[in-house]
This record gives sequence, structure tokens and C-alpha cells, in this order.
Amino acid sequence: MKPATSNHTLIGPFSQIVTMAELPEAGPIADEALEVLENAGVLVHEGRIVLVESYDKLLKIAEEKQYSLQKIEEPMVLMPGLIDSHTHICFAGSRANDYAMRVAGKSYLEIARNGGGILDSVRKTREATVVELVDLLKKRCDRHLSEGVTTCEVKSGYGLTTDDELKMLEAIQLVNKHHAIDLIPTCLAAHMRPPEHTDSRAYLEEVVSVLLPQIKEQGLASRVDIFIEDTAFNEEESLEYLLAAKEMGFEITVHADQFSTGGSRIAAEAGAVSADHLEASGDEEIALLKASGVVATVLPGASLGLGMHYAPARKMLDGGLCLAIATDWNPGSAPMGDLLLQAALLGAAEKLTTAETLAAITARAAKALHLTDRGSVQKGQLADLIAFPTANYKEILYQQGKLKPTKVWKQGKEV
Ligand code: NIG
Ligand code: FE
Repeated sequence: MKPATSNHTLIGPFSQIVTMAELPEAGPIADEALEVLENAGVLVHEGRIVLVESYDKLLKIAEEKQYSLQKIEEPMVLMPGLIDSHTHICFAGSRANDYAMRVAGKSYLEIARNGGGILDSVRKTREATVVELVDLLKKRCDRHLSEGVTTCEVKSGYGLTTDDELKMLEAIQLVNKHHAIDLIPTCLAAHMRPPEHTDSRAYLEEVVSVLLPQIKEQGLASRVDIFIEDTAFNEEESLEYLLAAKEMGFEITVHADQFSTGGSRIAAEAGAVSADHLEASGDEEIALLKASGVVATVLPGASLGLGMHYAPARKMLDGGLCLAIATDWNPGSAPMGDLLLQAALLGAAEKLTTAETLAAITARAAKALHLTDRGSVQKGQLADLIAFPTANYKEILYQQGKLKPTKVWKQGKEV
């Protein structure tokens, strides 16, 4: 046989392909809406999906045209690569001591007020060099990719000076250049008022006039986030900040309603792409997010890390919201960082359908990042794919995150 003359590759056969295609943009999803193709394959060309079809049909085409074959020899289920739309994985140091204090009864906010919490990670991240941050971030990306996360948002926010925020974003940019995972950077200089500043409004003004222009100029991020909470920034100053960032062309996302409400109203008013956390949200907040088309991103890893209740995901779906689930992987409130496990646990506790949970970490997570080229297995999408060693896709959530993908492709290349 002649060698392949094209770089088209047929991957398969898969026992099942769960395409996550053609799902409703928001609101509940019945499991019947999931498209599950049996004995199917994927034809990939230049990093994108060209065809998703019955394997026999694709094999005929591939043999005729002498395409390359990547044979799958065991029963496997194929899905789109997972998307983690909210993380803080660029950091130095560990907050294991905070965690021990928390489980022994001290609250997250109490620890923060006493110099622990976010500012402890700020101190350690400021001390780290770009090279050290790159190394730490790269290791976390290796783990995420091996667990099926092919796109991952990463926030700054442990620098809180112009130079240290730029240093974090540079580290994210460097890892993104050299790692197979796609990183989506977000500026979270508005994570907390830094200790050097006494006036949070003046600090935010400085971020707008000094830091954001440099981020723009250097192309380091196109998204801006803020933590709206009593211990961080208040609603009024947050809205001003977000509108100024929006005016500069940044997309907006918000840490909202984690402990108290208010943030989701600002997210809706500022026209944010997503509002994240939402543990404290109720009917009123859900209605506001719905009216403004804001994606609701819930973070079960923060609930698990803080030993608190989950965000009301079921209510959010029934209220018509587009629900995404992300890890919030960070050194403080969410040290675990296992997206599939956390989604499975939240789904079980909140009574989400399999379709709703899987959509929240694929197709709907893509919406939370305003990405249209990924999140489903269909023609034209990036060939970001993961395969689980099972013949039945229901095993994936049933095993609550312990069944991991054993094959991961980024843009058609197995990694
Ligand atoms: O999303 N809520 C604020 N920020 C992070 C926690 C960061 C930290 O504790 O270091 C969060 O949970
Ligand atoms: Fe967060």
C-alpha cells in the first residue's frame, strides 16, 4: 500500500461518541437530547474535525483516499475535551496551614482578616520569579491535560502590583506558547485591595490607568475579573471598574455572590459574559442573570474546599440559565482541581441530568469563555478530544470522576 498522501486522519472506531452537539443554549437539558453515535469515528484534518460518522462509512472513504488511520483497539467513549472556565493555577506556595485551620473551625474570611488567605498567596507569588511561576503552572497544566482538560482559563490576581500582575500574565503567556493545553488568561488585579493601598477605589483607578493599558498593548489578556464581596470590592466601585474595563475593550467576568449577594446584579448591569461562584444566589439573582444573558458558572471545588453548600445549580437551570461548572483551582478555597470529579459530585447533589453536567464542562463552558470553536464533536470544531476506557458513556459520571480519559487529543494530535 502507498504511504498516506494527505494528513487527514481517521480516528476510531469508538463504541460511542457523545457529540454534545445541537444542545439548547440555556436551561434544562433532558438526557434524550444527547446525541450518542454508536460505532463511530472522527475524521480530522489540520487540527479540526472534518466528519463525524459511522466508522464503517468513514473507513471506506479513508481507504479510498488513503488517509492515515489511528485505530482504537479497545471499547472507548469519545467526548469533546473538557473546558475549565475558571482557575487561579498561576501561584506560588501552599495554603495547607489555612486549610488545617479551616477544617478545625476557623472561617475563610476570619483567616483572611488575620493575614492568611489570598494575601498569603500574594506574598509568595510576588517573591517568585517568572521562571518559577512557569514551572509551577506547567506542572498543573500537565495534570489538567492528562485528566482531559484541553482548554483552561487562568487568572492573575496574586500579584496586585503592576509588575507582579504583568509577571503572572507573562508566565501564563509563556506556558500557553509551549504547552499543548490552551490557556485563556484573565486579569484579576481586582482580587483584593493590596496591603500597600488604603483606598480600594484609588487602587482600581490605578489598575485602569496603568495596568490595563499595558495588558492591552502586550496582548496579555482580553478578559477582566473582579471579586465583589465585603472583604474585597464593593458593588459601586466594582461597577465603575468593570465599565471602564469594558470601555477599553475587555470582556468581563465577575466573582459574584460567593458569601453575600450583590455581585450578580453588578455582573448583569456590566454585561458580563459570566458570573462565577453564586453559592449565595437566590431566585432574584437568577432572574437578573437570565435577563442579561450572563452565563452562570458554579464552582463546586470551592464549596468542597471551604466545607460549604453548593451553588443552586438545579434552580439555575430551571430558571433558564446557561450553567457552566469550573474548578476554581486555587491554593486557598479550592486546592483539589479535579474538574470531572467535582462536576460529578455537584451533579449528584443537585440532581442534574447527565446531559446537563457534561454540557457544563464542555459546550456550555465554552460559552462561559465566549469560545465558539470548541466544546462539541462536530464538523469545523477543533479536534480537542478525550476518550474513556468504557463502552457506555453513563459510566463516566457514575464513577464520579475516578474513571479518567486514557487518550487525549489536542487539535487532532494525541498528547
Ligand atoms: O474564587 N473568591 C475569591 N477568590 C478565589 C480564592 C482565591 C484564594 O483563596 O486564593 C476563589 O475562591
Ligand atoms: Fe475564583
